[in-house]
Order: sequence, then structure tokens, then C-alpha cells
Amino acid sequence: MGEPHAPEPRLSKTQRLWRWLKKPLLLGIPIGVFVLLLGIAGFQGVMVASNQNAFCFSCHLKMDTIVQEYQASPHYVSEDEVHATCADCHVPHEFVDKMKVKIVATADIYYMLIGKITKENFEQERPRLAGIVWEEMIATDSANCRHCHTGENFDLASQPQRARLNHQQMEARGETCIDCHTGIAHKRITVE
Ligand code: HEC
Ligand code: HEC
Ligand code: HEC
Ligand code: HEC
Repeated sequence: MGEPHAPEPRLSKTQRLWRWLKKPLLLGIPIGVFVLLLGIAGFQGVMVASNQNAFCFSCHLKMDTIVQEYQASPHYVSEDEVHATCADCHVPHEFVDKMKVKIVATADIYYMLIGKITKENFEQERPRLAGIVWEEMIATDSANCRHCHTGENFDLASQPQRARLNHQQMEARGETCIDCHTGIAHKRITVE
């Protein structure tokens, strides 16, 4: 019968049930709350509400300096008027892509709870986070920028020469908005 083992402590049924529940529950709470919200408020309602700046501010205002930088940028005018919300630049317009970002944002809720990003470590973490955004914008050919800056809102003829010259050559050079316009809403990050 081999080596004698230290006897397993005998757990009652409820103790065992609790132990089984505990781990997934800890991870599941933020996701569960999110899913619950979706159910209660109605899918579309939450999609819209969660796209408002207040939702993004709720974490990013205290967690880092992103909101303050945005508020000092040309895309923010005042509390009542913005040229672009956080979501206008960061959440894709197509529905399926929207869901993808929501799920990633749900992971952010978890990171938020475990305090992965703080005002103290934010500057170190920024290059990684900015890199995620740049990659997305290059992959979509800056679709979110083009959603607004198009047609008569992107009229080459009325742009100052320096802008016009750059924009005229953009397609031929295979460039996209984010190749040139980094740091438009937040502190410019330089990565070697
Ligand atoms: C529950 C808290 C929370 C909310 C609400 C939230 N974020 Fe975040 N966000 C985070 C955390 C935490 C990170 C850092 C994730 C990491 O370290 O990978 C993050 C990272 C990001 C990044 C960096 C790139 C990436 O995808 O990780 C962007 C962009 C971003 N958030 C935009 C938004 C926008 C836009 C909204 C509103 C629609 C929003 N966030 C709402 C907590 C939140
Ligand atoms: C929801 C609409 C919207 C979105 C999305 C948007 N913009 Fe803008 N943007 C504006 C408006 C409105 C202005 C102010 C009027 C103007 O200059 O056309 C502006 C101004 C600008 C300016 C001139 C002011 C400055 O910051 O130097 C640049 C450059 C610019 N946007 C680039 C971008 C880029 C790059 C993106 C994508 C990352 C983007 N915009 C996303 C609406 C938008
Ligand atoms: C090759 C680099 C380059 C690319 C790519 C590029 N821009 Fe620009 N853009 C510039 C330069 C340079 C200016 C002039 C800025 C200045 O003088 O400070 C400018 C100016 C602007 C302005 C202000 C125009 C005004 O009337 O003053 C807007 C808005 C803008 N860009 C949006 C965009 C958008 C949207 C895209 C993608 C569709 C884009 N840019 C792609 C280089 C670029
Ligand atoms: C006009 C478009 C625009 C708006 C509005 C905007 N962002 Fe960004 N954001 C960007 C771009 C572009 C980057 C990529 C880094 C860079 O070039 O500054 C970025 C990067 C980030 C990052 C990564 C960290 C960093 O410093 O780069 C976070 C987090 C983020 N944004 C959150 C937000 C939140 C939250 C809001 C609203 C308070 C917001 N953004 C509003 C365009 C925008």
C-alpha cells in the first residue's frame, strides 16, 4: 500500500462546495457583473451607455493621466462639447468588432480590480499600451479617424499646404493617419 500519506482533512459537503466555487468565483465576479448589466439594461442600451465618456472616465480618471491629457487636446472642447469621445477613437464601429473590444474591456475590469495599472507605474506601462492601439489602428487603416475625417471634413483643397502635401502622398506611400498623427489625444510616446 506504499508510503503513508498525511491524511487529507475531511471537508464537509458545504466546505467542499465552497472550495470548488471560490476560485472561478473570484475571476467571475467582474465578468458576471458585466453580463448581468447586459441582461438587465438590454444589450443595445449598455452598448451605447458604455460608449459614453463617463464609462471610460470611471476607471481612467483615477488610474492614469489619460483623461486629463485628452481634456487638454483639440478633440475635447468642454464638458458639453467634444469633437471625439474616447470610444469614437478606440471602439470600432462595426458591431462584431465592437463586441471584441467589449470583451477585451471586460478583461480590463479584472486588471482594474487587481490594480495592474496605477498612477505610479503608468509611465512604464504606456509604451506597451500605446503599441496595442497603434497596431489596431494600422490594421484598420485608421478606420475610426476616417469615420469623421472624410469627405468635406477632409477636404485637401482647404487644408494648409503642409497638411495637404502630406495627405496627397499618403496613399501612394501606403501610409495611414496614425503613421503621422500619434500623440494627438494623449502625451506623445516615443519608442526606440
Ligand atoms: C473597469 C475599468 C476600465 C474601464 C471602464 C475602461 N478601461 Fe480602458 N483600461 C483599463 C485597464 C486596467 C487598462 C490596462 C490593461 C492592461 O494593462 O493591459 C486599460 C487599457 C486601455 C487601453 C490601452 C490599450 C488596450 O486595449 O489595452 C485603451 C485604449 C483603453 N483602455 C480605452 C478605454 C476606453 C475607450 C474605455 C471606454 C469605452 C475604457 N478604456 C474603459 C481599465 C478600464
Ligand atoms: C468623432 C469624430 C472624430 C474622430 C473619431 C477623430 N477626429 Fe480628429 N477631429 C475631429 C474634429 C471635429 C476636429 C476639429 C475640426 C477639424 O480640424 O477638422 C478634429 C481635429 C483633428 C486634427 C487637428 C487638430 C490636432 O489635433 O492637431 C487632427 C490632426 C486630427 N483631428 C486627427 C485625427 C486622427 C489621427 C484621428 C484618429 C486617431 C481622429 N482625428 C479621430 C473629429 C474627429
Ligand atoms: C505622411 C504624414 C501624414 C499622414 C499619413 C496623415 N497626415 Fe494629417 N497632417 C500631416 C501634417 C504634417 C499636418 C500638418 C500639421 C501641422 O502643420 O502641424 C497634418 C494635418 C492634419 C489635420 C489638420 C488639417 C488642418 O486643416 O489644419 C487633420 C485634421 C489631419 N491631418 C488628419 C489626418 C487624417 C484623418 C489622416 C488619415 C486619413 C491623416 N491626417 C494622415 C501629416 C499626415
Ligand atoms: C482623437 C482620438 C483619441 C481620443 C479622443 C482618445 N484617444 Fe486614447 N489614444 C489615441 C491614440 C492615437 C493612441 C495611441 C498612442 C498615441 O499615439 O498617443 C491612444 C492611446 C491610448 C491609451 C494607451 C496609453 C497611451 O498613453 O498611449 C489609452 C489607455 C487610451 N488611449 C485611452 C483613452 C481614453 C480613456 C480616452 C478618453 C478619455 C481616449 N483614449 C481618447 C487616440 C485617441
